[in-house]
Order: sequence, then C-alpha cells, then structure tokens
Amino acid sequence: MFKYVNRPVKRVDALAKVTGKALYAEDISFPGMLYGAVLRAEHPHAKILKINTAKAKRIKGVRAVITADDIPGSKLVGVVKLDQPVFAWERVRYIGDGIAAVAAEDMDTARKALSAIEVDYEVLPGVFDPEEALKDDAPKVHEDGNVIVYHKVRKGDVEKGFKEADLVIEREYKTQFIEHSYIEPEAVVARPVDYGGIEIWGCIQNAFTTQKNVARVLGLDMAKVRIIQTPLGGSFGGKDDVMTVMAARAALLALKTGRPVKLVNTREESMRESYKRHPYVLRYKLGLKRDGTIVALQAYMAADGGAYASTTPFVTWRSTVQAAGPYRVPHVKVDTYGVYTNNPYTGAMRGFGSPQANFAIESLMDEAANELGMDPIEFRLKNGLRDGDETATGQKLTRHRVSLHEVIEKVRDAINWEELRKNPGGDGKIRRGVGIACSFRGASLGAEGVDIAGVEVKIDSDASVSIEAGLTEMGQGIKTVLAQVVAEELGVPIERVTLHPYDTSRVPDSGPTVASRATIVGGGAAQAACWKLREVILGALQEEDGAERAWFEDGVYRTEKNKYSFEEAVGIAIRRGKGLNAVGWFRTPDIHWDEEKGIGSPYFTYVYGAQAAYVEVDTETGKVRVLRVAAAHEVGRAINPAMARGQIYGGVAMALGYGLLEEFEVSEGIPLVKNFDDYSIPSSLDVPEVIPIIVENPDPDGPFGAKSLGEPTNELLAPAIANAIFHATGKRLRELPMNLEMVLLGRKLRRKRK
Ligand code: MOS
Repeated sequence: MFKYVNRPVKRVDALAKVTGKALYAEDISFPGMLYGAVLRAEHPHAKILKINTAKAKRIKGVRAVITADDIPGSKLVGVVKLDQPVFAWERVRYIGDGIAAVAAEDMDTARKALSAIEVDYEVLPGVFDPEEALKDDAPKVHEDGNVIVYHKVRKGDVEKGFKEADLVIEREYKTQFIEHSYIEPEAVVARPVDYGGIEIWGCIQNAFTTQKNVARVLGLDMAKVRIIQTPLGGSFGGKDDVMTVMAARAALLALKTGRPVKLVNTREESMRESYKRHPYVLRYKLGLKRDGTIVALQAYMAADGGAYASTTPFVTWRSTVQAAGPYRVPHVKVDTYGVYTNNPYTGAMRGFGSPQANFAIESLMDEAANELGMDPIEFRLKNGLRDGDETATGQKLTRHRVSLHEVIEKVRDAINWEELRKNPGGDGKIRRGVGIACSFRGASLGAEGVDIAGVEVKIDSDASVSIEAGLTEMGQGIKTVLAQVVAEELGVPIERVTLHPYDTSRVPDSGPTVASRATIVGGGAAQAACWKLREVILGALQEEDGAERAWFEDGVYRTEKNKYSFEEAVGIAIRRGKGLNAVGWFRTPDIHWDEEKGIGSPYFTYVYGAQAAYVEVDTETGKVRVLRVAAAHEVGRAINPAMARGQIYGGVAMALGYGLLEEFEVSEGIPLVKNFDDYSIPSSLDVPEVIPIIVENPDPDGPFGAKSLGEPTNELLAPAIANAIFHATGKRLRELPMNLEMVLLGRKLRRKRK
C-alpha cells in the first residue's frame, strides 16, 4: 500500500503559480541590465548582400549591435544537425531568421536601433511545399539538398500482401502547421560572470541542449555556461530550439557589453520565429481480407521541416515506426521524408509525429471498416495488437501487458457506443455521430536517442530533503511526481521535500524533457537515488543497534531490535558520520533500430489509448460541436491520478484545436497569422464533457510501474472527430483542420498574402 504514490497529492508548484509569486524569466532583472532586440529577415529566401549597422551603433543609448561576424565560436546550432544560424549571414532561409541584435539602455532605444540597421537582399526563388522541394529542380534551401532525413519500415512483402487481399484501398490525408500557443512568450536574461562564463535565466525546456549549443557558439567550455531554468508558462515541446537561439544571442550581447541583457519576444515575434508542428501529406494503401483481416499496409509520408532540421529526424522517425498503428500487419512498407522548405521551421510539439500519423491511420481504419460494412470498433478489436503479437516493425510485445483491447472496450462502454451508432440523435440540418480512434505510443525516447537520466537527492541535517533534477516542469506535474516518488521511497513526509530550480551547474544531466519520458526516467532515477540513501541509513542503524539486519518497510526503518522514523534514522546516520547525498541513474532497457533494413524494436514499452467523440454537425454552417469525449489511457501506473486526469482534460482540449480550429497559415513562406486575433485556439466554451478513464497495468520496467501520458492524450481526438463527422454526415474529411469550410465545402478557402 502506497502512502504518496498512486494518490492525488496536491501539486507542489501550485501555490507559487496561482498567487503570482512564481518568478518567470520576464520578471527577472539585474542592476545595469540592458534590453535586447532582434532584427529578422524580410524575405523567406534571399541572399544577404550587405548589412550596415553603423547608423544603429551611433544611436544614443545603444551599447552593442551584433551580427554573425561577432560570433567567436560556431555560427550554427541544432539539436540533431548543426544547420541553424544564430544570425543569418549570406542567406536567409525563412522569415523568422535573425540577422542582427541590439542591446540598449531601454527597449524603445533597442527597437529604434533595429530600424536603423540596413540590410540589402537579393530575393531568391523559394520552395514552400515539401513535395515540390523533393523535385530535382527545386531551389535548394541548404547546399546538400532538401532531404533532411529519410526513414523506412520494411516487413514481409507488401506486393505479395496486396495480391492476397480481397480489397485494396488507397487514401491521402493532410495535416497543417499549428502553433504551440504557450501563453508565455520566449524570454531570457543573460549575464556575464566572474569565472569567465555566462549565466542564463530563461523559460528553456531543455536546458542541457541549450547549454551545449551556447557553449559552442561562445567557444566556451560547457562548464562555463550555466543555464537556470525559470518556470515555464507552457511549452508543449515548443521551448527548445527557439530558446537555444535566443539564449545564444543574449549571451553574445552580454559578453560583448559586459552587462546583463534581457531578451523577450513579443507575441508577434514569437509567432514569426518559433517553430511549429509539422504539416504532413500521408498516402496510404491498405490490403484487406473480406473478413476484415489486414494483410498489407503501405505508407508514404512527406513532412514539411521548414528551413532548419530541428527535431525533424526524430519526429519523422516516430511517425514512421508508428505508421501502421496498433495493428497486426504481416506486410508493411513505409517511406518517410523530412524535407527542407522556406517555410517556418517545424519541430517538437506534444505528440512528436504521432498526431499526424494517427490522423491518417485512424481515419483509414474507419474507412476500411466502412468499406467492409463492419463496425469500426469490431474492426479494430479484430486487428488490434494483443500480448505477444508482433508490431509492424517486427517487435514482439512480450515485455509488458498490451492493453489495447481494454482501452477500446472502456471507451466503447463509456460513450455508449452501441446505442449512439444506431441512434445518434439530431434532426433536420443538425446531424450527430460518434467516432473512435486508438493508438499505441512508444514510451520515452526510444532508439532515437540515448535514454538516460540522473536525479540527485540530498538529506539535510534536520532531515529535510532536496531533489536536484534536470527534468522540466512545464505544467505536466513532474515536480510533484518526483516529490511523491522520493517521499514514498525514503519514508519522509512530502511536506519536507523541496525541489530547487533546474540549474545545469547543479543537477545531473537528465537529457531532454521530451517524449513523455520525465516520469519514467526521472521517477526511475529518483527512486535509484533513494535506494542508495536507504542503504547508507540502514547501515548506520545496523551499527547503532549492533543488529544483524536492517530494513525499510512501510515507510519505517527497522532493525530486529528497533524501529525508527525517517527523522530518527537520519539523526543516527548523521551522528555516525554518513554522507547523505546520492545521485541515481535510470536507463531505459535495450532497444534497437536498424535504419538500413527498416526493422527493430524502437521502444522498450508502449502505452495504449482510445478516445471516442460524440459530435454534432450543423450541415448549414459547417460548425462542428463536440458534445462528449470518452478518453481511456493506459499509463502503467498513475503516480498521481488527479494530475493524470488533468493531462487527459488538457490533451483533449488541445487536440480539439488541432482537429477543428487551428491552422498557422503560411503563404509562400509568409505567415498570415501574426497574433492570436488571427488564430483561434479552443476556449473553455468549446471544451466538451470529458470522461477520463485511467487504465493501470504496471510496467515491469517503469518506476512503480509507471509509463507515459502527456502526449498520448493529445494524439487521438482529431481522427475520432473525423470519424464521428463521417458517421453523422457521410462526409469523409481527410484534411485538418475540419473547420467550417472543410465541413461545408470539403476544401479550404485560402487567404491571400496581405
Ligand atoms: Mo516533446 S513534443 O517530445 O518536447
């Protein structure tokens, strides 16, 4: 029986946030601080002929104007590939490229200086569509061609599979650019420090990635670059590369002037510069037997990576290995391209390649069921992965329990599927329908990266406990999860556990907080640290009591002679001169991926989810209202069931925008969206009744059996809505978002560039 884990413990960061006491990056200032501003490109693709900063430098109050020429180290940064300039020189590749930056005594002066910088361009033809970019004669965004990455899956023989099929269907789906829409725009403060380095405060999702890249740009040791993470006002995968570039610019200005420098993006700058979710075009071919058995699946995907690689190689890899969904398919062939264009660049966003692939595969499954005259749930249950089955990449699922059927059945019952399929309700111009989508999702980074994390746990002499962790709190609740794990494993009251800010000079490198991995790797590392500390404490008790044996049970430290509370036990350990400080590490179990052959075990475990949407369509206006959503997610074990439900509500609300409302429209590389007056995200009035269902099947490898939840909740609703719209109206929509014109006309009305 757990005392803290698996319980709805109150969030440890809640009070500071709701009382306004939390210090965000923009709140931070230092004496003598300067204000920075960045000049951005005027064309999506152009040669830079000349940059003249002389006039700007002469303006009173301007302390520095810098360009790529002022960079002492690497002019390029990147998560996977070093291809993104801190300041563009010679060429701009998208409209958000930075050309120069200014530091001045106040913001107005900084802005004035920006407008005094003269840049001469020679406009180049651009390429704005990934499939156009793949053609031989397309303008090259980078010298080595427009293919950022290519991934494949090869299993069995699809041609043979299609021959054996009674029915073959081919479909094309498309997804759009969307904005992360974090409420807090990007902000950093950099200040030079006396050890010859730089300290940077900022809302940086992956501080170690930023540290590495900033050190590269400055030509400094990583140890001389200290990143202190401030609370994040939302991120959703979005405060990675864009923050690295911003931190590097602020650091350059600070070192140039010898003074602290603050850089804050306005919303317009944020929307112009920051990366988006990848638009995809996905073409599927599916072979079926009359009885509903899937025999072959072929998929082609092209993802618009925009001007820089960012995390495109990893994002497209996830789409590739999960392309066939959670189904048994003997013959599989998938080809995926991540492609450079002169559009805004694209990168990590909650789901990381699965929202796009799931929209296609889960729409396709519905279309297949319809062609066969089968119920969509019956079709999924028939083909869905079960214990011991082999995935489309040839991985045998034997290490964990496969919960696909369980989540589908729970959602079916919660939404009242049988009844609503027969009698959906609605009348006249108002039609109603119900649809479902399900998925499996590889937990953690998988074979796309080194998946290891460290967490340090320290016990002070008053028996209070600190956690020093490099796992990012971005609203998902990892701080609370870590506090729960440590309180449980040490037997310390949770009120006595404190988490300090994530500071790269103080915490072990945990890798990036992405891929819904924080609970698994961070929780696992915290657990390992506590086990080390327990060994030390128990050793001291054995000495103290002259005991044969000492052990920890039900939150109490015991020897055969005595039992001690955490506080008593710590007192004894300290008196006996024991060091009560430990770093624990967690590494995900063995996984492998053969990029050449396109086969392997990409993830050590998977989570399973299903969401059903009950919708109402106004056939005269095209307005879709989602009335009710049932969402079942298998999480291994919920460390905090209340926060797990919160993830489901949040993921569903966010996916509602992806499905129905949001598009970051870009015309020939120019964003048509400048601010939120042009970009609708769901408000509380749009959010339907949500029935969250948490399914627990503890994983043998996760801490307390926990797996992931953050992203899975955000990758299912769009196809569930598309399938519900089909049920309601008989109209199949294969392109996102399913806004008024898509529903009414079956196509988008494109705006023109202003
Ligand atoms: Mo996340 S989208 O893997 O930062």
